Amino acid sequence: MIPIARPDLGPDEVAAVTEVLSSGMIAQGRKVAELEAKWAEFVGVKHAVAMANGTLSLMSIFSGIGLEPGDEVITVSHTFAATANAILYTGATPVFIDIEPDTYLIDAKRIEAAITTRTRAICPVHLFGLVADMDMIQAIADRHGLIVVEDACQAHGATFRGRRAGSFGHGAFSLYATKNMTTAEGGFVTTNDDKLADWLRLHRNQGMRTRYQFEMLGYNFRMTDVAAAIGLVQLAKLERNTARRQAIAARYDEAFGELPIGLPITPDGRTHVFHQYTIDVGGARDAIVADLREAGVGADIYYPIPVHRQAYIMERGLYADLPVTDGAAARTLALPMHPGLTDAEQNQVIEAVRTAVGRHLDGSAAERPAAGVAAT
Ligand SMILES: Cc1ncc(COP(=O)(O)O)c(C=O)c1O
Repeated sequence: MIPIARPDLGPDEVAAVTEVLSSGMIAQGRKVAELEAKWAEFVGVKHAVAMANGTLSLMSIFSGIGLEPGDEVITVSHTFAATANAILYTGATPVFIDIEPDTYLIDAKRIEAAITTRTRAICPVHLFGLVADMDMIQAIADRHGLIVVEDACQAHGATFRGRRAGSFGHGAFSLYATKNMTTAEGGFVTTNDDKLADWLRLHRNQGMRTRYQFEMLGYNFRMTDVAAAIGLVQLAKLERNTARRQAIAARYDEAFGELPIGLPITPDGRTHVFHQYTIDVGGARDAIVADLREAGVGADIYYPIPVHRQAYIMERGLYADLPVTDGAAARTLALPMHPGLTDAEQNQVIEAVRTAVGRHLDGSAAERPAAGVAAT
């Protein structure tokens, strides 16, 4: 099976880990500090604070900005559940709004209608490697005095008008195994806020600045130097690997141009880093996924059940009517996308998609989804 994702790990990562292991200094230390400095510079922010994973990065931001029960955060349901969970863990409430039909990102035009006296923050998710409309989101946040928290867990290096994901509000990144860069498990918070960065460093380290002097209630959310050593090698490769993802996407675009399916779009002024390459195949989605898997292509669905329809969310009374999100969950699938995908593997994927689409979609106007997703 051609996998949907595969981490790009090689002898350099092995050597970097071996060096740390041999040094005997394996917990959070010099390598973590080096990785933080490089990530802050790459994103273009004052501070990067390394964390144990992306979920804790998000959760730490929400705690650090002081969310409390009764507060609301406007976000999307078309995301990995950790976005909403990180809000819920603070006792605050995620308020789900719908997405744009063509980018699958938060529909910023819907934000103001969802603002109440309890709203504290807006949390766009830069899903699949594309940054949300930060001009509009920032303008709304400024107008209403709201904090912007970017879920940039899938958007390492993606840009909006030349600025990188994670540099607009407070940003959270994941370094999970399948992400565009990895430390196996890991995460970052990025911010220009000195006070928040200081609080996050205490929060992740049991409240300690000086050993055994606990300045506040804290956790252990630290990253290890073993993980950071992998991250330093991965960061050095990130731009090359992003270019490879973009080249793979361009080849998919070209190969599928004539098919009656919706392809990813990149609005002007943005760069897409293609964490996923997602296509809209309409009502035949499940049949097409089955055919692709039969043909050895590891197609997958992100995400088959949107967060607002998960039982634990509905039990909390957080269901919302989100037809575009439901449409995306029903009609889209993601194709293999990782820097190690060979041309021969990509040819196999392209051939399998052509065959499956030819079999299940007749290309008539009725079957053909518009670019992106139509509400169902
Ligand atoms: C959009 C999004 N948010 C949050 C997370 C959580 O990150 P992690 O798995 O590192 O905790 C992920 C990744 O899995 C993600 O894709």
